[in-house]
Amino acid sequence: GAPVEVNIGKAEPGQLIRVEWRGQPVWVVRRTPEMLASLEAVNDRLRDPNSDEPQQPEYAKNLHRSRKEEFFVAVGICTHLGCSPQFLDVGFSDYIEEAKSGFFCPCHGSTFDIAGRVFQGVPAPYNLVVPPHYYINDTTILVG
Ligand code: FES
Repeated sequence: GAPVEVNIGKAEPGQLIRVEWRGQPVWVVRRTPEMLASLEAVNDRLRDPNSDEPQQPEYAKNLHRSRKEEFFVAVGICTHLGCSPQFLDVGFSDYIEEAKSGFFCPCHGSTFDIAGRVFQGVPAPYNLVVPPHYYINDTTILVG
């Protein structure tokens, strides 16, 4: 499949943009300072906080799992059995107290933080997948 350009120039803080790449949903989230601050708080409750699992690109092996702190790019498919997780920008504390935002898979209850890192004790085995991508310029990401 062809690479897909994502224009992030008009993304509001806290907004999730959806595009399709190779028949899969890809998300770009513009994270707020509060979202970024929550990453550290949940570290000890994650299965793979540093993204050491081999299926991650090198630039996803950091706390933010992204090239730029502010923008998170992920394949929007649960790593358990492939359902589509919901983006919870508010009210995530109903599921995980310290994470004020993240992703919740309604199929079997897997939870991921706002860097797509899977919490311990849920069925999903891995963090959400970060697809290959890079910045063409400040407002355009090329996925693929
Ligand atoms: Fe998401 Fe099972 S498919 S938890």
